[in-house]
Amino acid sequence: MLSPVDLRSDTVTQPTAAMKRAMVEAPLGDDVFGDDPSVQRLEAMAAERLGKQAALFVPSGTMANQVAVRCHTRPGDLVIMAEAAHIYQYEGGAPAMISGVLIRLLPAERGLLEPAAVRAAIPPDDIHFAPASLLCVENTSNRGGGSVYPLARLDALGALAQELDLATHLDGARIFNAQVASGVPAARIAQPFDSVSVCLSKGLGAPVGSVLCGSADLIRQARRVRKQLGGGMRQAGILAAAGVYALEFHVERMADDHARAQRLWQGLADGGWRVEGPPETNMVYAQVDDPMGMVSRLAAAGLLCAAVGPGRIRLVTHLGVDDAGIERALSIFASLA
Ligand SMILES: Cc1ncc(COP(=O)(O)O)c(C=O)c1O
Repeated sequence: MLSPVDLRSDTVTQPTAAMKRAMVEAPLGDDVFGDDPSVQRLEAMAAERLGKQAALFVPSGTMANQVAVRCHTRPGDLVIMAEAAHIYQYEGGAPAMISGVLIRLLPAERGLLEPAAVRAAIPPDDIHFAPASLLCVENTSNRGGGSVYPLARLDALGALAQELDLATHLDGARIFNAQVASGVPAARIAQPFDSVSVCLSKGLGAPVGSVLCGSADLIRQARRVRKQLGGGMRQAGILAAAGVYALEFHVERMADDHARAQRLWQGLADGGWRVEGPPETNMVYAQVDDPMGMVSRLAAAGLLCAAVGPGRIRLVTHLGVDDAGIERALSIFASLA
């Protein structure tokens, strides 16, 4: 029997044989002592690719984001982000628990913030109000449909933050999808931001890990917070080596994931399904009346996907799904119509 087509997330990828070889052969040290050469290599490479002075390897995208929030704020501060933001929706209330901050969510079409809405959300400098200190932006926006910010909007948000004296963090879990879709280098996308988090374990296909990039000062502070949160890892080079391999060999190939998302979207649209989009990167969202029921019926027929919020399901392409998998997914949908 065929194994199911797994479009739940781009986090389900298995490391390739070549990636596993790179992991097995990686020179290792003790990264809490700062002497793991493979972690050092990944951090240097990530800093260079993101155009920042320094980088820190962390176990997850959640930790990268939360370490950033902790470093940029003090308890009682106000943090501004889109309603769709992963930092708010899917990180277990961590900003409140770890950083003691208040969050103001802004409605944003396709998850993309408008500078005017950010300006309007900043409270006056008055002791009654929590002082706004951080703006968080997500590119691509996951709940926004894998949407990509136009560069001019990112620059405008960066300029506004500077004017308002806000620190800026970019949740760039999928920044390389944005690079591949737009042709704008990740370093340029990240330029208006003080920090950027990047996931190695999503479209890039590594089994574990993210990097947080920023100034040398910020990363020094972040290293301390990572340790406090229990994220200091010893022979972590075995994992970092997968990240190095992914940055070297798995960036350009994401164009295939984007093309497959287009094919999936078109096939679903042609089949009369209520799809959102068209997709800009590797995600297809469809509107259905009973998401949990639909996910169960699709799973029973051999297609795994995710129910995301009221009335929506999400299908994500990644390096574990080929053209035949997409055609199989479409024929499973057709069998349910
Ligand atoms: C936009 C975004 N940021 C952060 C994360 C968190 O990554 P992790 O699952 O590694 O904690 C995710 C995970 O899906 C994400 O989609």
